[in-house]
Amino acid sequence: MNDLSEVRLRRHLSGWVPEVRYLPETDSTNLQALAWARQGAPHGSVVVADHQSAGRGRLDRRWLAPPGSSLLFSVVLRPELKPELRGLLCLAAGVAGCEFLSSLEIKAGLKWPNDILLGDRKVAGILAEASGEVVVLGAGLNVHQTGFPPEIAESATSLAAHTARSFDRTEVLAGWISHLAPLVDGPPAVIRSEYGRWCSTLGRRVRVDLGEGGVEDEAVDIDGTGALVLAGGRTVSAGDVVQLR
Ligand code: BTN
Repeated sequence: MNDLSEVRLRRHLSGWVPEVRYLPETDSTNLQALAWARQGAPHGSVVVADHQSAGRGRLDRRWLAPPGSSLLFSVVLRPELKPELRGLLCLAAGVAGCEFLSSLEIKAGLKWPNDILLGDRKVAGILAEASGEVVVLGAGLNVHQTGFPPEIAESATSLAAHTARSFDRTEVLAGWISHLAPLVDGPPAVIRSEYGRWCSTLGRRVRVDLGEGGVEDEAVDIDGTGALVLAGGRTVSAGDVVQLR
């Protein structure tokens, strides 16, 4: 059965989503959502794809997923938040994903900023992109994969591989959005406190690759903008984290 279609998406998504666009194939749902936002897409509009030819990851990386394997979507937000607090919206997507997986009795965690992990393997990544007053939250969740390319075979997993259960991508999206909506429309302090419940980076020794070199320290908190606070006082707003112990 095809578990993604415009008809099923319209039927399953809550009233919080005013409009949904399903694209069997596109370059990137984030790019499509940003373009749609420029044409006036309202808050909560969602773009979903079965396949992306130019999926975008954090830190200018690519996000690759075979057709039919993954849940690939982007949500257009028009937040009423001060610009400096909008980084928390990206964290809200990770929190919502973990809450939803927990409702399926799947124990997930977050590696700062926003990798959703099952055990120590990445099952989903989130990329927030801003343009003017709009923030687009894009998420890629591995759902049906039973294997991965050698480069990520040791570090990636999917819902199916981790649980040996089967999943319907439309239902997974609807569940994820139902947890996201109250977080993005609620007080930002709630995102920050809920993030602390799911984030496995806090309290750990980490190595952060900052591009121009690395820093090793204990991760102690996130600040009000979503940046990672290290014990030595340094805050990191973007970078790659390795959790050491
Ligand atoms: C990461 O690097 O971990 C973030 C990956 C985000 C990938 C998703 S897939 C759907 C959406 N569209 C994109 O082009 N990227 C995000």
